[in-house]
Parts: sequence; structure tokens; C-alpha cells
Amino acid sequence: MPSRTQRIIDWFDLRLGIRTAVLPILTHPVPRGLGWYYVFGSATLTMFMMQIVTGICLAVVYVPAASDAYTSLEYLNNEQPLGWLLRAVHYWSATGMVVLISLHATRVFLMGAFKYPRELTWILGVFLLLLTLGLAFTGQVLRWDQDAYWGVGVGAAMVGRVPFIGPALVHVLLGGPNIGGETLSRFFGLHVFVLPGLTILLLVPHLYLVVRQGISSRPAPGKPVDPKTYEAEYEKEIAAGEPFYPYDFAKDAIFSAICVLVIFALAISFGPKGPSEPPDPTLIEAEPRPDWYFLPLFALLALSPPEMETAIILTLPVVAVAILLLLPFFAGKGERHPRRRPVAVLVVLLLFLTLGVLGWLGNVAPWSPEMFAWSGTPIPVHIVERLTPEQLQGAAVFQNKTCRNCHSLDGQGGKRGPDLTLVATRLSHSELIRQVIQGGGNMPAYGKQLSPAEVEALVSFLGTLRREGEPLPRSPAADETKN
Ligand code: HEC
Repeated sequence: MPSRTQRIIDWFDLRLGIRTAVLPILTHPVPRGLGWYYVFGSATLTMFMMQIVTGICLAVVYVPAASDAYTSLEYLNNEQPLGWLLRAVHYWSATGMVVLISLHATRVFLMGAFKYPRELTWILGVFLLLLTLGLAFTGQVLRWDQDAYWGVGVGAAMVGRVPFIGPALVHVLLGGPNIGGETLSRFFGLHVFVLPGLTILLLVPHLYLVVRQGISSRPAPGKPVDPKTYEAEYEKEIAAGEPFYPYDFAKDAIFSAICVLVIFALAISFGPKGPSEPPDPTLIEAEPRPDWYFLPLFALLALSPPEMETAIILTLPVVAVAILLLLPFFAGKGERHPRRRPVAVLVVLLLFLTLGVLGWLGNVAPWSPEMFAWSGTPIPVHIVERLTPEQLQGAAVFQNKTCRNCHSLDGQGGKRGPDLTLVATRLSHSELIRQVIQGGGNMPAYGKQLSPAEVEALVSFLGTLRREGEPLPRSPAADETKN
């Protein structure tokens, strides 16, 4: 007579078929001597699961609205019991996921495990890597602090350079022409629904292929992959192999457990990241920094010569992703062992060296002023040549406060605010003063940053921005009475 628990288990198994469907996967034979190199993939999965669990908990408290996001994070940090730990674990396991997926991809590349017949597994893996970076980027935006604000700004500036459809793409990404409340909603939707959904969607076939193609054996020098003979050889290795459970499963489990412990140790010792200062577009000197994994990219952006920027930004990522995706097609056969693939080893070393140097530069380079190639563009000569001394002084203020990060003159400059070439035909003197002092409509208020004399000079400069021969802007007194 089977025990009651046994009968309950049997009842479920008759319906679910776990014993016939899942157990064989756990005990399927794998090649012998895999060692500890094969643990990074499953540890990445463990990190992803931690992301989902902590992420869902955070989403319950987080408010994805520009006005409240920052406060809700402060609330999590300071008032919600263990809220700080939740944020810290979410942040550090994100870091862990980026590190582990990079190690996993590097291991697969160095051991030639992407070669025949595992090309599709690799290609899905490349997309999973991109999705992980996408999750990391959208996640740091949700912090909605100074760094997040400029992070989106730089990201949008990059996207805006795509030929023809750039501005439209920026509009879709930001939910409008400016970084504002809609932007945060977009990134929240991406971070919480779209990207995790896609990740799971690609993860399932990735894991299915891992099981279906079997785990690649340890590469040996002088044992090249040849599609004609590969299956038969692998068959032999498997026949002499060992069951995945318990030996290799145990390695995966132990390594994952260590990773989880390390994440908790980091989370408890260093706490959550940010939020730093609340977003304030006028703090050009704030030296914002993205999360470390984006430092190399941002350094590249900051340091490349302005005339090359667009080419670098647009071609480099596309070429890099294309190489990764096509790799199994031009290197899908032949030697797997790193000792017989010196070029592959050299590429990995150079890649990590470059990323390291760029990351270091990214950490020390004062890039925010260089962020938009146009912030230093001088005011066109035909505008300044007929100015009075006070108006000239105003032009200097206009230049120094980098108003052109957001506004263009003669079509050159930022597109976040309206083009100011003819602003004086639209706005009166006092409207100009109000706009500069109080800002509004996504423009920062400059009242506290400018002395009254600077405001006066700036506005008298703005007052000259109209077509020649057009009537002078109304006198201040006239519109004072109108208001
Ligand atoms: C962060 C981006 C940003 C910066 C920096 C910025 N502005 Fe603006 N500005 C805007 C936006 C956005 C608007 C549109 C506001 C609206 O729609 O109500 C605007 C509107 C204006 C207007 C009114 C234009 C019109 O046609 O209605 C003036 C004038 C102006 N800004 C001047 C300045 C000056 C001068 C500076 C530098 C001291 C400056 N802005 C810096 C974003 C910016």
C-alpha cells in the first residue's frame, strides 16, 4: 500500500508527466570532464530569476511618474521595511547578470562552443545579451535622478543621429520631443513588460537548444569540428559520459549559490545605488555617470572628435552586433581549442583591454559638456555683428549657459526646445523674461542662476532675434499694462 504522500505525488505525476518529461532531462548524459567552466550560463539564469522576483516586489511600490518616481525610491530606501535591501539586491543582481552573461559568452566563444551544430543557440544568446543590456539601461533610467536624466539625453542624442528616421525614433523613445513624464512611462513599460517578456521568449528556445544539442565537450587541440563526422563523435562521447544530475548539476547549483551569497553580501555592504541628485537639466557641471557597464560606450561618445561622432555612433554598434551574429557562419567549423585559435584569443584580450581603458576614461572624462556636439557652436556672425554692448553680453550669457543644448539658432543646435532664430517676433520682452526666469514647459528655470543684469542682457539679446525690418518688440511698459 503506497503512502498517502506517494499517492498524492502519483496523482499529480499521472497528469503532469514530470517523471517521464523532466527527469530524463536532468539525468541526460553529458560529456565527461566538463569542469567548472560550464557554470556561467545557469548562474546568469539564477540572476535573471532574482531580477524578476525583486523587480516584481519593487514594482508594487515604485511610482512610474516623473513627479513621484524619485520620492518613491527615497521612500523605499528610508521608510519601507527592507525596501533598501530589495533595491540593493535588484541593482547588484543586475550587475551580476551583466558580468555573468559576459563571462558565459566569452567562455562559449573561447571554447568554440558556438560552432556546428550550436549556431542557433549562439544567435539566440547574442539577442539575450542585447536584451540584458537593454534591461540594464532602461532600469537605470527608472532611477529618474540626475544620472538617469543625462543617460536618456545621451541615448536620445545617439538615436537622433540615425539618418532620416532619427527624430521620429527619438519621439517614440521619449514619448514626445522632450524628456518628461511620458519618457518615464515609456521606459517603465519597456523595463517591466517588453524587455523581460522578450527575454523569456528567447530564453525558452535557447534552453531547449542547449538540451537538444547537448552540452559541448571540453575542446581538445587537434580535434576540429567537421559537420560530416561531428554527430558520430559526439554520440561516442555521450555514450561514455555521465548523467548531468547529480555531478554537473551540483557544480551549477554550488556556483549559483555562491553568486547569490556574493550578491547579498554586496547589497548589504554597499546598499542600493542612488537615487543621486534629483534631475535638473541646468546642472551642466553635475558630471553625471551612467552605470559602469555603459561607461565604455559613453567614453567613446565623449571622446570621439565631433566630426566623427555620428559615424562612430552609428556604425560601431551595428558592426559589432553583425559580427557577433555572423560569427558561427564564418567560423562555424574547425579547431575549437583556444590554443589553436590565437586570433580568437587575441580578439578577446583586445576587446577587454579596450573596454577597460574606455571604461576608465569614461570614469575620468568630463564628458557632459561634450555630450552634444553643438553646445559649443558659436552664435552665427550675422546675428552678433550688429549688436550693442549689452546685447553682446547677453549673447555671451546665452553661449555660457549652453542654451543651445536645447535651442537652435539658424537651424543649428538642440531640438528639445523651439528654434529661437525668430523668437522676438513671437514673444514680448516680458514674456521672454518670464520664460528665462521661470522656465516651464520642460525648460529649466534660470532665475536662480543668473543675476538680474545677466537676465536683462540675455533678454535684450533675445529681443534682437527677428528678421531685419520687422517691427521692434513691444516696449516693456506696454506689456506690463497688458498683463
Ligand atoms: C533643457 C532644455 C532647455 C534649456 C537648457 C533651455 N531651454 Fe529654453 N525652452 C526649452 C523648452 C522645452 C521650451 C518650450 C517651453 C514650452 O513649450 O512652454 C523652451 C522655451 C524657451 C523660450 C520660448 C520660446 C518660444 O518660442 O516660445 C525661450 C525664449 C527660451 N526657451 C530661452 C532659453 C534660454 C535663453 C536658455 C538659456 C539660458 C534656454 N532657453 C535653455 C528647453 C530648454
